[in-house]
Amino acid sequence: MSSKQIVIHAPATVANMVCGFDVLGFAVNEPYDIMKIRFSDSPGVTIINEDIYNLPIDPAKNVAGAALLAMLEEIPEVAGLELTINKQIKPGSGVGSSAASAAGAVVAANCLLEDRFRKEDLVRFAMNGEKLASGVKHADNIAPCIYGGVTLIRSIFPLDIIELNAPPLFVTIVHPQIEVRTADARSILKQQIQLKDAIKQWGNIAGLVAGLQKSDYDLIGRSLEDVLIEPIRSILIPGFDEVKQKSKEVGALGGGISGSGPSIFMLSKDEQTARKVETEMKAIFSGIGLEHHTYITTINQQGIKIIEA
Ligand code: HSE
Repeated sequence: MSSKQIVIHAPATVANMVCGFDVLGFAVNEPYDIMKIRFSDSPGVTIINEDIYNLPIDPAKNVAGAALLAMLEEIPEVAGLELTINKQIKPGSGVGSSAASAAGAVVAANCLLEDRFRKEDLVRFAMNGEKLASGVKHADNIAPCIYGGVTLIRSIFPLDIIELNAPPLFVTIVHPQIEVRTADARSILKQQIQLKDAIKQWGNIAGLVAGLQKSDYDLIGRSLEDVLIEPIRSILIPGFDEVKQKSKEVGALGGGISGSGPSIFMLSKDEQTARKVETEMKAIFSGIGLEHHTYITTINQQGIKIIEA
């Protein structure tokens, strides 16, 4: 058995991209988790936490563990894997913390296995982590985490992932220090929608994809509108409407809830605008006395990065 160790960085991701609930997502350069993996004599998956979050070390209850267990089923010759997790992406923040763990684990393991599996297989394994975290398989954090850039998940059964082009974009993220569980944020959604709303939504999704492909910033901005999910979920995020309004006033193209929240993201054409957006976000959350963290980052084109192989 090889004693090789693989070290990776797994980036945070912004799912939905406002209008594309469960079908669009992009990776960002900050923050990211750090993970190490090696073969182990102990059967199954051994998890070591090197961070402050005290996440379960029982692999069946850990999103990275669940993803690796699914992978191990297809590699009977491997007895065990030992995974060390150092999370920098706070769980429950809405920037793909569970996806980074699940995707990071299987990408690292695949590197150990000398690229045995295709990216689609890795997405398939990692979705078991999302199922554990939120009750359903969705790939709008996992796919951009693995592929990098902006991804469209046209279908998950069967998997059909399309990598989209995107012009340079700056991303400002604010994470108010409240926790919104994805499972809860999904359970409050309506199961039926009106045709007139569906028409608006698919117009926006198509507009956003076209805007990204054509590097048309105005079209991107016009398409960052969600008439289905945001009106319901934004109630869980204090200050949401004000953040959106003020960010646009200082020049942001638009934005909305990152994944299932509570983080909010805004896209800007240049760094100076992204900084002005950050100032507005900080002022709003300080004004309501809510602790928060902000990031100014860009789209991560590479996805999970192998640091040591
Ligand atoms: N598309 C998922 C949701 C992403 O919005 O519930 C969760 O991060």
